[in-house]
Amino acid sequence: MGSIKIRLLSFFADSAARGRPAKRKMTTRLTKAAHSRTVNVSILLAILAIFASIFPLDAYSQSRSISSPATAKPDDAAGKYTGPGSCASTTCHGSIVPRSDNRVLQNEYSIWIVKDKHSKAYAALTGPIGERMAKILGISAAETAPRCLACHAVDVPQSERGRTFELSEGVSCESCHGPAAGWLGPHTERDWTHQKSLALGMYDTRDLTKRSEKCLSCHLGNDEKSVDHEMIAAGHPDLFFELDTFSDVMPRHWKEPGEPGEAAGTDPWYNVRELTSGQAVQLRQSLLRLASRSHGKIWPEYSELQCYACHHSLTPPEQSWRQARGYPGRRPGNPPWNPSRYAVFRDVVRQLDGENAEKLDSELSRLGQLMSQLNPDRNAVETSATNSAHLADELLAKMNSAPYDPEVTLHLLQKISADADDISGQGEHSAAQAAMAIQSLFLAYERNEKLQNSDQLRAAIKGLFQELQNPSAYDPARFAAQMKQVNALLR
Ligand code: HEC
Ligand code: HEC
Ligand code: HEC
Ligand code: HEC
Repeated sequence: MGSIKIRLLSFFADSAARGRPAKRKMTTRLTKAAHSRTVNVSILLAILAIFASIFPLDAYSQSRSISSPATAKPDDAAGKYTGPGSCASTTCHGSIVPRSDNRVLQNEYSIWIVKDKHSKAYAALTGPIGERMAKILGISAAETAPRCLACHAVDVPQSERGRTFELSEGVSCESCHGPAAGWLGPHTERDWTHQKSLALGMYDTRDLTKRSEKCLSCHLGNDEKSVDHEMIAAGHPDLFFELDTFSDVMPRHWKEPGEPGEAAGTDPWYNVRELTSGQAVQLRQSLLRLASRSHGKIWPEYSELQCYACHHSLTPPEQSWRQARGYPGRRPGNPPWNPSRYAVFRDVVRQLDGENAEKLDSELSRLGQLMSQLNPDRNAVETSATNSAHLADELLAKMNSAPYDPEVTLHLLQKISADADDISGQGEHSAAQAAMAIQSLFLAYERNEKLQNSDQLRAAIKGLFQELQNPSAYDPARFAAQMKQVNALLR
């Protein structure tokens, strides 16, 4: 059993702090899970020891300030937000080491507060980049601006904030799991079920579709909350996502099906489903966002286009791969649409559902052409994006129910890596999706089966991420060559 796990540990690190906001770095580190786990546990223990001495977790919830107005519903009413302090007790979710006598690890709070960047999401607004962004955008303070708090905190109406609720706790438990007041007490009872919690306001993060939608509400944005090019130009990191990889990086504070301790019969190929479903949801949601932005105040919205078509460094003509490639399907110099949320899914669908693959392909190539004009026709874009979103939605159901096994997983790996020229030609964001997907599938495979040249493969996959280190200097030929190397090792 190959239990070595590669983790994409850091993404486009925000190098704005070093004064170069346009250049983002993508770095990977390969770590052996066993190794990182021992190291991380000792760091966790050290940090928690300090933390607990300043601020005992059990006393945490009592120490929060009283801030809710008299108009509010009673504090235990379903639908009310209580803040992470109510989950933090060592006997609840604040255990320092994972519990082995229970399905639930019970150290979720400790992981969140120490390792999960979500607990720092509010602090990001008050930091130097957040402050500078606010200045550039002309908002008085990011930490009071609803357009920032929407994704960096649990910014619910006053009437839904419980007594112990604090905005400054960032993206906390209830951002993902829903308002806790209704189920907080009863969910610890014997024979309590997940269904009962759902009925009392818990969000169903177990459902992969709902889980992706929840992550993407912030990691892609929607009608109510959005990161656009104006915000990016002011310093916001660009948003990109892949469910399986990002869940690993968070890191996960839950057991995955197939892991030791999970009920027998759970799906050992669960991570493959997580990848394919996640890709379908990501495509659908991004198309819905595009459809809605097509009638926005700002049009075209640059963050829907390929960033590095505009933001690359120039070379002498004889060294320009862009000029060597030409500008198929668009006027030379027009910025193209960013198809990265389709790049990998396209190969997944081709393998799992050939018939619908063609339909989706023709609709999306039409959309790509529309979007690669200087002033894309708003109505035509809306129609095409909406049609494509419907197709993606139909395919999502198939992704959720498709059977996954070693063969399918290996074929997916082969198919995606064989698509080297097409994917790498679709820009750096598409390449990043391919790198994450290949890494994810490789890990899923290794968890259950053995690959002969596992070490070489791991090195070749690492090489993919190295090609993404400096996105402004991304070179599709080099990335394609690296993908072909991965592909050759899979034969
Ligand atoms: C649609 C949701 C969304 C909105 C709205 C939003 N952000 Fe973010 N923000 C994110 C996400 C997601 C990340 C993490 C991106 C990543 O690392 O992939 C992030 C990261 C950041 C970071 C970098 C944090 C770090 O640790 O490097 C800063 C600073 C930031 N946001 C500030 C702001 C400010 C200021 C506003 C309002 C003007 C704002 N954000 C609005 C979702 C959002
Ligand atoms: C960014 C989203 C996010 C945040 C923030 C978050 N969780 Fe989770 N949590 C998940 C996802 C996704 C799962 C896996 C699906 C599941 O089991 O519900 C999960 C699983 C769990 C589980 C296991 C549930 C089960 O039945 O296996 C517990 C317990 C849990 N979280 C508690 C917490 C606590 C406590 C906090 C805050 C300290 C927290 N979570 C913060 C997303 C989140
Ligand atoms: C309420 C909004 C929100 C939701 C929901 C959300 N995130 Fe985030 N996420 C953020 C913000 C904001 C940040 C940036 C925090 C920071 O760096 O200060 C972030 C950061 C991250 C990071 C760290 C990225 C990096 O650059 O290191 C990962 C990984 C991540 N989120 C994964 C997830 C996953 C997986 C889910 C769903 C299970 C999810 N998030 C749901 C808002 C959200
Ligand atoms: C159609 C061309 C175009 C596209 C596509 C585009 N941008 Fe920009 N971007 C610009 C222009 C023009 C500026 C303003 C530059 C200036 O004032 O010097 C800018 C500014 C920026 C800045 C601030 C400039 C700096 O040096 O710090 C960042 C960061 C940035 N863009 C990132 C992105 C990202 C990420 C994407 C893709 C999600 C993107 N851009 C897509 C044209 C574009």
